[in-house]
Amino acid sequence: MNRRPIHAFAGLSLIAATHLAFSAVARAQPSYDDEPIRYSAGPVDDPIARLQRRLDAGDATLTREGPQGYLKSLLAALRVPRESQVLVFSKTSFQRSAISPQTPRALYFSDDAYVGWVKGGDVLEIATIDPRQGTIFYLLPQRPEKPRFIRQTHACLQCHDGSAQTGGVPGLMVRSVFPGSDGEPKFSAGTFLTTPASPLSERWGGWYVTGSHGRQRHMGNVTVGDADPATLATLDRERGANVLDLESRFDQAPYLGRGSDLVALMVMEHQLPVHNLITSASYETRRALRDEETMNKLLGEPEGHRQKSTTNRISAAAESLVRALLFSGEIALTDPVAGTSGFARSFSALGPRDRKGRSLRDLDLRRRLLRYPCSPLIYGESFEALPTVMKEQIYRRLWDVLSGRDQTPPFAHLTPVDRQTIREILRDTKPSLPAYWR
Ligand code: HEC
Repeated sequence: MNRRPIHAFAGLSLIAATHLAFSAVARAQPSYDDEPIRYSAGPVDDPIARLQRRLDAGDATLTREGPQGYLKSLLAALRVPRESQVLVFSKTSFQRSAISPQTPRALYFSDDAYVGWVKGGDVLEIATIDPRQGTIFYLLPQRPEKPRFIRQTHACLQCHDGSAQTGGVPGLMVRSVFPGSDGEPKFSAGTFLTTPASPLSERWGGWYVTGSHGRQRHMGNVTVGDADPATLATLDRERGANVLDLESRFDQAPYLGRGSDLVALMVMEHQLPVHNLITSASYETRRALRDEETMNKLLGEPEGHRQKSTTNRISAAAESLVRALLFSGEIALTDPVAGTSGFARSFSALGPRDRKGRSLRDLDLRRRLLRYPCSPLIYGESFEALPTVMKEQIYRRLWDVLSGRDQTPPFAHLTPVDRQTIREILRDTKPSLPAYWR
């Protein structure tokens, strides 16, 4: 019998998972390369795989332009808005030697694609969401020849996989560090994994942040004094606060956009853990069903007999995802926030809207991120592609909460009006809901 342990993350709440700081967890050989997942070897159909097919067929082209190479053309092909630009200056990622406070790395994103550009870099770094396999990594060499995406596994997974950071699946994360003046993180001072549950005071270390946020303070825009790197006190939060323009800090001319939009950062920070939990939910269900098949054969049970352990595994993974979808544990803003790039407008404009004109993409930005706290990633292909038993469990739990039957503390942040509104928006905008939602 080929049983795998339930991954610890599945049983953890979003809040508990959030407070696990980054640690270099020693990992066993990743089991997602085995059946039934076959992450590295199985077929994929993510936005980059689709774009590559269109390039091969001559139905699409990518063109190089200026210091950004293929960036602009790639963002257009993936429908990633350039207003989503956020800038990270800590040396925490793949092309670390080229990243510094004078040459921050730019990231751009949509619901299902994340693109990284480094000034003078040889490659664009891409992470896209495959409906079944979760986050898939690619490089696009900036050489002038015919553009060709190159799938990556180990080179990226050495950082983009970890029980604390991504829940043990290939995934995405945002971290907050104490950066030195050269962008080198001072790991001795600690780091934070950022999610919607992170207080602003622990966010954006090593990132530029443009936007207003009143009296709230964060770790962005500044570096720690090199003299005493180990203490929080050396981070000059006042100098990093309410920065609207990065003009005086580095040469922005080679960049596609200006600034590092605060609202874009907050939206990205909500999306990444949701992607990871959708991937976990998919993997866990497929593994549980495979194990069940083996167990039924062994025990002489009829095909399709539901084992209690299967139900438990599915509901644990569903619960973590439902909490993340409904922003359980999200921090309360104490002053309004705003960005600088117009990202908020382009994000909200995507809809879809219900018959009263309301959308899950309507932003609040006074007390919390979304006006109606339910992740728009519920519209994504990866949610839709979850195994049927998993989707049924998620819809049942969403219905429990949104109908008001579940009054437990993880959902206490949702008022009766919030619950009703989210229910109504979903009813009008999500055609695949089960009949009992109507
Ligand atoms: C040395 C560790 C490391 C390696 C190796 C690495 N990354 Fe990352 N990556 C990070 C970190 C950390 C972040 C979060 C932002 C930051 O701090 O720069 C990140 C962020 C990203 C993002 C933005 C979305 C997100 O998760 O925040 C993309 C896209 C990305 N990486 C692509 C890649 C690709 C493609 C590869 C492999 C070619 C790769 N990365 C290899 C550490 C790494």
